[in-house]
Amino acid sequence: MASNNIHPVKNLLLKREDKELITGRKGRVFWFYGLSGSGKSTLAIQLEKNLHEAKVHSIVLDGDNLRSTINRDLGFNYNDRKENIRRVSEIAKTLAENGLVVIASLITPKEKFREMARSIIGNETFKDIFVQASYEKCKERDVKGLYEKVNSGEIKDFTGDKSEFEQPNAPWLLINTENESQKISGEKILEKILKEIEI
Ligand code: ADX
Repeated sequence: MASNNIHPVKNLLLKREDKELITGRKGRVFWFYGLSGSGKSTLAIQLEKNLHEAKVHSIVLDGDNLRSTINRDLGFNYNDRKENIRRVSEIAKTLAENGLVVIASLITPKEKFREMARSIIGNETFKDIFVQASYEKCKERDVKGLYEKVNSGEIKDFTGDKSEFEQPNAPWLLINTENESQKISGEKILEKILKEIEI
């Protein structure tokens, strides 16, 4: 086995609580998920800014960004999406263990992927935020022109079309961007998160 001769030094490193003394907040992962065009990245970017203004150090892990760097070898079939979520979960976990507030933004279309992320990161640390908007609404927005490409047949395995997006049961927070302004959504998210990361 490849891991036979590997000896992680984890037990020797400082603990999360030691790091949190420095950041002054609880290390947490806020995992935004939903259809492409639902507003995940917009809300994540706004949250980073709002937290910064509140003097909270946070970091955004965005699906599109990571897919052009560390995950550039991955596509959009089931296994590649799963590997995408696994890698980002491991990175997010490490950052949260170092006392940081992590804002992840990935479609995360299957319940199994969300369960995997939760189990890697830990139930206490992983907080899922479902960004809800109907396929029709996202198609109407079509910010990146991808829905148009689905129409023309250029993209075949698109989430919500040929590739199913499974609705979650009980997210930690549900934000409906179809009926609510960005401002109101942003305020709700910030308020709930500031409470959650308080030591
Ligand atoms: S996930 O399914 O693995 O969680 P992720 O959030 O990383 O997806 O990447 C989704 C982004 O990739 C979308 O926002 C979009 O810009 C782009 N994309 C390209 N092809 C597809 C596709 N077939 N389905 C969904 N998103 C796609």
